[in-house]
This record gives sequence, structure tokens and C-alpha cells, in this order.
Amino acid sequence: MRCMVVSSTHPDAASDAAQHPVTALHGIEKTYYKPDGSVAVAALASVDVVIQRGEYLAIMGPSGSGKSTLMNILGCLDRPTAGEYFLDGIDVASMDDETLSRIRGKKIGFVFQAFNLIPQLTLEENIEVPLLYQGIRKPGRRAAAREMLERVDLSDRLDHRPSELSGGQQQRAAIARALVNDPVILFADEPTGNLDSKTGRDILKLFEELHAGGMTIAVVTHDEAISERCERIIRLRDGRIETDERLRPTRPSRRPAGADGDR
Ligand SMILES: Nc1ncnc2c1ncn2[C@@H]1O[C@H](COP(=O)(O)OP(=O)(O)OP(=O)(O)O)[C@@H](O)[C@H]1O
Ligand SMILES: [Mg+2]
Repeated sequence: MRCMVVSSTHPDAASDAAQHPVTALHGIEKTYYKPDGSVAVAALASVDVVIQRGEYLAIMGPSGSGKSTLMNILGCLDRPTAGEYFLDGIDVASMDDETLSRIRGKKIGFVFQAFNLIPQLTLEENIEVPLLYQGIRKPGRRAAAREMLERVDLSDRLDHRPSELSGGQQQRAAIARALVNDPVILFADEPTGNLDSKTGRDILKLFEELHAGGMTIAVVTHDEAISERCERIIRLRDGRIETDERLRPTRPSRRPAGADGDR
């Protein structure tokens, strides 16, 4: 995949990038408090997760076990109450909000169950949004958006609004939007939850193609058909990791280490 933001990296940077995991969480806790300060829910406790470059893993567990909470922390959409988080070697736990959102925009792609496309914008404009935040000018944005829409087989829908598309097409567009910044990892929270099984399988196939191209992917799912095809399954129960099982070795990443742009 093309790298949108190319920085001149020191030769040592490539070996540095190869040495650190894509994400390393240690001792993560997330506690929700009531307005009076009393504890409402301990959603995550003592969670350690290390994801290596090129992995394809599933996060599973019963409803309420903390999957979305963990995914939102991994995706820097939410902060833990306690614990350490290194994203691509960068300490993001102590970062101010502005720096965190800049890092998130460069390094993370996120796909939601409900697609979350902007209804007023065309597909092409939707895909351009992350690039707009990175300060990329219109011609570059348009070219990148078109290339991504071609990759997800939606080139004939550039000018359509999300409401004019099927659920599967909307999710493919959402995946294009998540990838347009060439993130180091793609997170997906129940990406097939709103789709029929055939359309869900198409999305699964797309993930597998992306993974074969070297993308690191973590997906929250209730669907055993997805998790069986991953390399690793983390199962949560009551906010804790119950099991962390490796089904097969991680496919060697074809993505060059250190090709992640500005760090
Ligand atoms: N904003 C919040 N305030 C208080 N409690 C919350 C909040 N968000 C989540 N929780 C609680 O934290 C726990 C974990 O929720 P989470 O959404 O992570 O579960 P999940 O595993 O994703 O479930 P599902 O499979 O239903 O999506 C639940 O008990 C939930 O009620
Ligand atoms: Mg959830």
C-alpha cells in the first residue's frame, strides 16, 4: 500500500521500528465512575496486550466483557484509568489530547459496526476527511481517495452519498477511509455486525487481502467464522483476559518496518 506521509528517516529508524510492537498495553484498567465519584463499573482490569507487526487477531467475549472498551483504548478513542500504552513505540498514555488526536490520525484506522460515514458528503469526500486533517491539499486528497475506493471496488460510486449505498458498500467505504492514511494498525469493532452473512464474508475477504498485504488487524467479533481465520484470539471475561490463544504463526509482514511516516 502507498505511504501517504513520507519522512526522511535515519537508517537506524527501520531497525528501531522492527524492534517495537505495534501496540503494547500493560496493566490497563478502565473504571467508570458515577457523578458522585463512586465506582459504577470496572470495565477493564490488569489487561496486558502486545500486538506485533503483521498480526491478524480477534478479540472475543460475552456482551459487557469489555471488548469495545479495550478497542477504544487501543484505538486511542478513549483513555485508560491506569496503565501504560505504547503505540508504535510512542508513549501515548501521557499525551495531551491534541497530540494524541494527531498521532491517532496518522497511525490508526478504525472501522465501526455502524459504518459512521458522514451522510452529507459523497463517498469520495468521506474518504478525503482523514487527509484533510493531515493538511493534505485537494489534488492529493482526491487522488488518494480514488485509489482507495478502487481498492475496495467502489470506483463507480465516487459521487454517491452513503444513504445511496448498501450496507456492505458503506462498510467497504468505511474501510477505505480507515486505510487512506496508511495506518500502522486497523481496528474493527464488530465490522460485520450490521451485515448479512454473504456481505459479511466479502468484508472478511477484504480483511484477509489487507492482511496478506502486510496490514496489522485487530477485530472485535462474536463471529467464530472470523476468529477461526485469524492467527490469534484474545477472549475477555468480566474485563480481564481469560485466554490469549495463538492458532497459527503470524504471516511474515511484507510491510517494510519504518515505512510508517512521521513518528
Ligand atoms: N460510558 C460508560 N459508563 C459506564 N459504564 C460503561 C460505559 N461504557 C461501557 N460501560 C460498561 O463497561 C462494561 C464493558 O462494556 P463494553 O461496551 O466494553 O462491552 P462489550 O464487550 O463491547 O459488549 P458488547 O458485546 O455488548 O458490545 C459493561 O458493563 C458496560 O456496561
Ligand atoms: Mg461492544
